[in-house]
Amino acid sequence: MENGPDVSIRDSYGRMDPSEKRAELVRGLENRPMSLPSRYFYDRRGSRLFREITRLEEYYPARTEKAILRNVLPGIIPGMDFRELVELGSGDCSKISMVLESIPEGSLAETRYIPVDVSRSAMETSALELLTRFPGLRIRGIVADFCRQLDEVPEGRRRLFLLFSGTVGNFEPDEAKSLLKGIADQMEEGDSFIMGVDMLKERSLMEDAYDDIEGVTACFNRNILNVTGGILSADIPSKCFDHLSFFNDDESRMEMHPVARSDIRIEIPHLEEPLRIRRGERIHTENSYKYTTGMLEDLAEGGGMRIMRMFSDCRDWFSLVEMEAS
Ligand code: AVJ
Repeated sequence: MENGPDVSIRDSYGRMDPSEKRAELVRGLENRPMSLPSRYFYDRRGSRLFREITRLEEYYPARTEKAILRNVLPGIIPGMDFRELVELGSGDCSKISMVLESIPEGSLAETRYIPVDVSRSAMETSALELLTRFPGLRIRGIVADFCRQLDEVPEGRRRLFLLFSGTVGNFEPDEAKSLLKGIADQMEEGDSFIMGVDMLKERSLMEDAYDDIEGVTACFNRNILNVTGGILSADIPSKCFDHLSFFNDDESRMEMHPVARSDIRIEIPHLEEPLRIRRGERIHTENSYKYTTGMLEDLAEGGGMRIMRMFSDCRDWFSLVEMEAS
């Protein structure tokens, strides 16, 4: 008899204390200026919207990263001796599929794929898709916030850690350094880390990527308000917010903010005062840092890593950086 598919998903995020999430969201909304952690974009709808964003003409990072992966993976993957692929912020399975395709046929059965993501639904969908394409693959998914729950990743040997999609850009420089340190701590001699990074470029290209004509990014940005409302059991009228995104030169980052179109009053259970948002007030929902080589070197150094190789597209719009713990 043939063995059934070898898949398991452990949910460490769903089991997280809900009051912790609530407190974090309330804190963000009571602050002035208001802010919400970008992690909350990714419920089922948010993950679907992000996937739609990656197919937009304006959103160059996704297709540029894939072009680089297509070019370099066949040359580097067969030479890397790993048994486990740990993908942080795995999302959909489009990038890991490219990695798996580059693994020589015989080694695939010995490879374990460990996706780590806050979106359980995205992980389940991806796992199913991967199993049809790579039937012998062993999958051990972990639903977790990879920046705070990295210790949920089981110890292992000969691991390749992956952080694609320019996700590192969502962290402030100091946070990004501690994230890298956390990964470096988990790495053993011979393990590697590959990270996709969006690079600084002409302003209009970056700004268009976060404000597409079809308005998908606007929906994505507003969706975090629906997610927040759901967790807080509050009615946040996301339709009453406009989408704002711009490049912040001083910080070298794209920013997204829903902006209140009118004065809004929101009742939040267990809070004494209703939340009052005035017309024109913004909620900072995302930073997406755009790196220079200098910033990357600084990040590696501060994160306890050493840059081994770097691959880019011909316009240097996006980079794939290979690192080892130093
Ligand atoms: C994949 C999370 C890095 O910051 O570019 C896409 C998310 N935000 N459009 C990014 C996103 C707006 C994306 N990350």
